[in-house]
Amino acid sequence: MIIAIDGPGAAGKGTLARRLAEALDLAYLDTGLLYRTVAAKVLAAGGDPATPEVAEAAARSATFMDLNRPDLREEAVGQGASQVAAIPGVRAALLDLQRRFARQPPEGKRGVVLDGRDIGTVVCPDANVKLFVTASLETRAARRQKELRARGEASIYARVKQEMQERDARDSARATAPLKPASDAVVLDTSEMDADGAFRAAMDIITARTTAPPA
Ligand code: CDP
Repeated sequence: MIIAIDGPGAAGKGTLARRLAEALDLAYLDTGLLYRTVAAKVLAAGGDPATPEVAEAAARSATFMDLNRPDLREEAVGQGASQVAAIPGVRAALLDLQRRFARQPPEGKRGVVLDGRDIGTVVCPDANVKLFVTASLETRAARRQKELRARGEASIYARVKQEMQERDARDSARATAPLKPASDAVVLDTSEMDADGAFRAAMDIITARTTAPPA
């Protein structure tokens, strides 16, 4: 069982994916953390995340152990992640890790939930259910700002919104695996939903897609 969840930043993918994985007893992988790992490695070494050779070397050395780095959620790392994510060699290096996780879920789980930007389109085109989770730019910027505040990071709404817009533009415009719903994805707009509402809506979609219609 593979559930693919894609969408722009701060749309609520992570919270939703984690809750679905728990409810359905599936393994969960936040693939954004892989791109964040690559950016964090490059930044820690004083490099520029937009330099292909440097970013590709960091991607080739990435392992699941790196996903525990404490600096991955920093905003600079998020921006760097979207820069390394535009480099085809970086995406190719990370593809294998993601597909291996989907094919052989850890801890003997019967399936996986993957969240990212290209899970339904590139990483797992055969996923059983594909959700494209989105929300208005204003809602997403407000959620991101709340997240930052909760971590004690000062932030200005206008700035958060602008950075989010830049990252959306970069993710959607890149040539390799751009952010877009797969043709068979169900779009879930969470602008007017809280986490419980999004979870219920997603469960309804999954049930409808994985239960055979009565004969
Ligand atoms: O937390 P947020 O949703 O904003 O970002 P994230 O999921 O941690 O991803 C950070 C960056 O990695 C994104 O802006 C994308 O450019 C990139 N990414 C990607 O290209 N493909 C994925 N499957 C996941 C993330």
